[in-house]
Amino acid sequence: MKLYIETLGCAMNMRDSEHMIAELKTKEGYTLTEDAKEADLILINTCSVREKPERKLFSEIGQFALIKKPHAKIGICGCTASHMGEEIIKKAPSVNFVLGARNISKISEVIHRDKAVEVGVDYDDSTYVFDTAGNIGIKALLNISIGCDKRCAYCIVPHTRGKEISIPLDLILSEAEKLAQNGVKELMLLGQNVNNYGVRFSSNHKMINFAGLLREISKIEGIKRIRFTSPHPLHMDDEFLEEFASNPKICKCIHMPLQSGSSKILKSMRRGYTKEWYLNRVAKLKSLVPHVGIGTDIIVAFPGESEEDFAHTMDVLESVQFDTMYSFIYSPRPHTESYQWGKESIVSKEVASKRLAILQDKHKTILRDKAKKEIGHLHEVLIENIKHGEDSFSEGRSDTGKLIKIPQEVLKIGDIVNVQISQNEGGSLIGRCIK
Ligand code: 5AD
Ligand code: SF4
Repeated sequence: MKLYIETLGCAMNMRDSEHMIAELKTKEGYTLTEDAKEADLILINTCSVREKPERKLFSEIGQFALIKKPHAKIGICGCTASHMGEEIIKKAPSVNFVLGARNISKISEVIHRDKAVEVGVDYDDSTYVFDTAGNIGIKALLNISIGCDKRCAYCIVPHTRGKEISIPLDLILSEAEKLAQNGVKELMLLGQNVNNYGVRFSSNHKMINFAGLLREISKIEGIKRIRFTSPHPLHMDDEFLEEFASNPKICKCIHMPLQSGSSKILKSMRRGYTKEWYLNRVAKLKSLVPHVGIGTDIIVAFPGESEEDFAHTMDVLESVQFDTMYSFIYSPRPHTESYQWGKESIVSKEVASKRLAILQDKHKTILRDKAKKEIGHLHEVLIENIKHGEDSFSEGRSDTGKLIKIPQEVLKIGDIVNVQISQNEGGSLIGRCIK
């Protein structure tokens, strides 16, 4: 039996796909295929955070229905499955089952129930989310919480993934130990608001916060590096920032989703912080870790965003000098607060596109300037990719999140080496090993 799976969206979805693949391999004997035409089961693990990919879903289902083997099943999983539920089967009768983001551990059950719809967000998936299907490399994703308690006015995720539940510490530690024994060196801890860890467990468990969790995981010898995504700026208290700075296993690269630089817009987004709080946290972070890599997400043209509000976003961009930026035009989503707002606050498409272009252009300039300053800098790189032969090279990421290529040196995957940047070729960094 062959499984074809397509994964859209964030790292949580990638992890959920890993889990489903593992379940289907061990319980149902499936093997993976890259060719949907030869699959017995086609899964699309969907994202619903913006409208466009959701619209594309139905034309995709139509295409799979045309090329699939006659008996092959189609399952729609993930966030769009959660929020559309049964409607998916009504709109696309070729779909055999719908499995929500909070229910992925039921995969081997729903494949046997035609027209099954499992989309409950009260279901507690928090102790099932670990299965990994063989072939673990040197990096692994590890869930530490599921769901989201925040009520950001634009965001559909609390609706699709339900209330936030932290996974018990002992489960996380035993899973991390297992991964380390299988050769994993770098862990990426996952959750919607990772640094809110400990807020609620599904049953009685020892209370521990995110800084405490980081301390416990870093005691595992084989784990050399720890990353996490996504933290929330609101929960970046001093204890967390100090742990981030002083724990040598924590990679010095952090995602700080800004969303907007305007305190007025942040308030209507219900983000819980102001421009000043955000800049204060960045200042503290940079004072503790001057070389820290900072990433962000920004939404432009949120309802009510004026030129002045947008100027505040540009101001934060200039002042923080983000190393990575994902930027989006606001997309109204059902089941969110801002979806209900009147038309008068909507920013026109033209203005929205213009603002996005200005933001992205500015960020490109920032990155170009930053890359120039990289020459001569030292980075600690975990080797993830090697190529033998004439154009041999080794390649990996610095702890600050930068992709660095080391030409003419074939190292071992999993090596951690010190690299000095010698060149910056069109934005990609080239370096040599320093003993
Ligand atoms: N419109 C545009 N972007 C959104 N995001 C979340 N919801 C929306 C929306 N309705 C963005 C945010 C978030 C990222 C994952 O997607 O920036 O951090
Ligand atoms: Fe991930 Fe959010 Fe998209 Fe769901 S809606 S896949 S949680 S980004």
